[in-house]
Amino acid sequence: MEPVVKSKASNGVSPGGNSNLVLILDYGSQYTHLITRRIRQLSVLSLCVSGTNSLDSIAKLNPRVVILSGGPHSVHAPGAPSFPDGFLEYAEENGVFVLGICYGMQLIVQKLGGVVDVGEKQEYGKMEIAVEGEWGLYGAEAAGGHQVVWMSHGDEAVKLPEGFTVVARSLQGSVAAIENRSRRLYGLQYHPEVYGDNDVTHSPRGMETLRHFLLDVCGISADWKMQDVLEEEVKVIKGMVGPDEHVICALSGGVDSTVAATLVHKAIGDRLHCVFVDNGLLRYKERERVMSTFESELHLPVTCVDASEQFLNKLKGVKDPEMKRKIIGHEFICIFDQFATELEKILGNKPTFLVQGTLYPDVIESCPPPGSGMTHSHTIKSHHNVGGLPKDMKLKLIEPLKFLFKDEVRKLGCILNVPESFLKRHPFPGPGLAVRVLGDVTEGNALEILRQVDEIFIQAIKEAGLYDSIWQAFAVFLPVQSVGVQGDQRTHSHVVALRAITSEDGMTADWYYFDHKFLIDVVRKICNNVRGVNRVCQDITSKPPATVEWE
Ligand code: XMP
Repeated sequence: MEPVVKSKASNGVSPGGNSNLVLILDYGSQYTHLITRRIRQLSVLSLCVSGTNSLDSIAKLNPRVVILSGGPHSVHAPGAPSFPDGFLEYAEENGVFVLGICYGMQLIVQKLGGVVDVGEKQEYGKMEIAVEGEWGLYGAEAAGGHQVVWMSHGDEAVKLPEGFTVVARSLQGSVAAIENRSRRLYGLQYHPEVYGDNDVTHSPRGMETLRHFLLDVCGISADWKMQDVLEEEVKVIKGMVGPDEHVICALSGGVDSTVAATLVHKAIGDRLHCVFVDNGLLRYKERERVMSTFESELHLPVTCVDASEQFLNKLKGVKDPEMKRKIIGHEFICIFDQFATELEKILGNKPTFLVQGTLYPDVIESCPPPGSGMTHSHTIKSHHNVGGLPKDMKLKLIEPLKFLFKDEVRKLGCILNVPESFLKRHPFPGPGLAVRVLGDVTEGNALEILRQVDEIFIQAIKEAGLYDSIWQAFAVFLPVQSVGVQGDQRTHSHVVALRAITSEDGMTADWYYFDHKFLIDVVRKICNNVRGVNRVCQDITSKPPATVEWE
């Protein structure tokens, strides 16, 4: 499905002035998705595509501003990724503003005949810069002052191309910001997108800089609203699905599939048929709980399919995480096909579409990093709704949330009157407990143990009133046994781990800090109530370097 890009009538300012889109060309920085998010937080639509996309595909999106992201490369490295030939000419002819961030800025400098060199003083982390005056990149409040920024670079611009001015320098004297106003070309050597809510260590004034640049300099209107996304998506779905066509949707009980189903239901009504699959990898009493909430709160007709044996048989003996994900993805698709065949008998017409609640982070993380030399997906994890789909799948996909981050999906759900109980649920991965039982999920009673531990942990979090402050919490079953002593008896039992994180979108995460008493109580409850567990660990790793799930 094409991204929803709202066109506006041309304001006559410039040929490129008929779009309100900020397009980010990704050169592999770990912060690229943050640029996209920050701009959306300004109520401006931004999309992120690979930095090596063709000029044609960039021009088709008709952006008003293009941001060249940072990246891990040196512009001098053989095969260093770059924008396509003719890009800067295209931007100039069409009145498109270009902002390079870090590596992106060095690309601009190098391509226009300036010199980028290995910096004498490599700059990483917190730095102070001096803004030299009121220029395009900085408003009146920032002009002439100092600000703290987040630098992360080895190379630096030592000679600027003709027509460029240095508008900010680090206190060590290296170039921190440049611009050529008449050609609408701008560059920041630091990362304005990197900061947290209470965070003064990164670029605390980065948002102010982005806002000033996009709204005041580039003339972007901050009017991107979830209501527009909703209306556009409904229109797109109506246009995709013919009047006699039917659609199936797999509901997991989570935020994404529930919002996606409600949205599609709004567009095509009862031609949407929902299915809830019990794959044997669900949490404690999940099937009963989810089915009853669908009925009582969502009023969507849902068929429940018990396929637990089918999934668990296929997973027997499989230890490799990617293999597990692929198998699960494949089984899901087989079940959707069977469901479609059953529906055909009733409707006389086989459903042709499948709705998936794929989110933007799934799509971004499934892209190959530019410059990696890979043309296919560089897989961090095959999220089953992206990487695991078979090539010969007969159902066409509808992915109405494909361009949204999790918090945006929650906002969309709110407009669609999806009950809070759904919107506030912690995310649960498609492959379910299979990625939380490390190794063979069918071995012994691992799944049963995990369900009990997870339930105790989550209930304790709810009772302590912490559920809504935590982005995601769960337990993990480890494939090791340890020695313990319980009731004067030596035990050789299982080890489980507890993980709770805070995050904005699952792309990066911090571990959640529980107080001592909470942890003591929860560990005692687990060891006293779950047979077969004698040791509990807490995972205190952030993402990166870890991922949220263990597999
Ligand atoms: P990771 O483990 O990739 O997780 O850091 C980020 C977020 O994505 C969820 N996740 C998945 N969701 N299908 C899904 O629908 C999957 O295969 C999948 N794998 C991870 C994870 O729970 C976290 O919220």
